[in-house]
Amino acid sequence: MDGKTRATVEEIFETVAEASPEIRAGLPSRRLKSGSENPSGEKQMAADVFADDLLQARLGNLDGVGQYASEERAEVDDVGEGFSVTVDPLDGSSNLKPNNTMGTVVGIYDAPLPATGEDLVGAAYVLFGPVSTMMCAVDGQVDEYLVDNGVRNLVTEDVALPDEPSVYGFGGRVPEWFDDFSAFADEVASDPSMKLRYGGAMIGDVNQVLTYGGIFSYPAFTNAREGKLRLQYEGYPVAYIMETAGGASSDGTQSILDVVKTDDIHARVPVHVGNESLIEKLESMLDESVDSPA
Ligand code: F6P
Ligand code: MG
Repeated sequence: MDGKTRATVEEIFETVAEASPEIRAGLPSRRLKSGSENPSGEKQMAADVFADDLLQARLGNLDGVGQYASEERAEVDDVGEGFSVTVDPLDGSSNLKPNNTMGTVVGIYDAPLPATGEDLVGAAYVLFGPVSTMMCAVDGQVDEYLVDNGVRNLVTEDVALPDEPSVYGFGGRVPEWFDDFSAFADEVASDPSMKLRYGGAMIGDVNQVLTYGGIFSYPAFTNAREGKLRLQYEGYPVAYIMETAGGASSDGTQSILDVVKTDDIHARVPVHVGNESLIEKLESMLDESVDSPA
């Protein structure tokens, strides 16, 4: 990766880190629904809209950013020349009411949007937990930071997914899972070394997997084969972070990074990320099945 690309990616990471205390400080007064829906038909919280506007203003202002797109706005914003940035401003915002984990997810693409997984030059997320942390993936390495007053302080250099999986979290309604995925889930659950830990915000659940080893899935459903999570804002960036940390990703049949994009900036994708052994097992079990979503 050349120096200019690296510098721009770091500037985008720094800008997101800098905005994060403001996003966090804006939460207590914005725990109500905004009255509007996002382009995926979900009820927006006032905090979703606030975080999106803030990040659009800050990231859109950077010299190295050409496009800004987010889960919360219908169209891609052309903001200049440079990389395209996709944002899930407040991932897991339904956790705001019960005061549970949430995060901000960012993907940086060297191509116009919608882009492909191969176009990613960096991805990161901020996790609003008891403390704010940030996981940044660029140039083949993932680093974890504590975000203090908007400044990143390195806590773990070269984060590596633990070899031995120990936690799992599977999203959605169990009766709507395909039988083959249910069989996989049963197998994972029956492994005495595996424990269910699920919080309802993708980024919190993925961060647990990155910390302890294991698997997070938001799978395909019998009434929604494309799943729930969005490819450009969630699927590609999370797959990039997990694969850079030595893990694997899948949409059920292939790495999420190889999923072919469509023209729809809000397209969805089934998401499975975690230890390679579990992702391989998952893919083989979905393969064998007659009702495989593939
Ligand atoms: O961004 C979508 C999201 O909020 C994810 O963070 C999370 O994994 C999922 O939706 C939870 O949705 P539900 O509560 O509908 O299962
Ligand atoms: Mg989200």
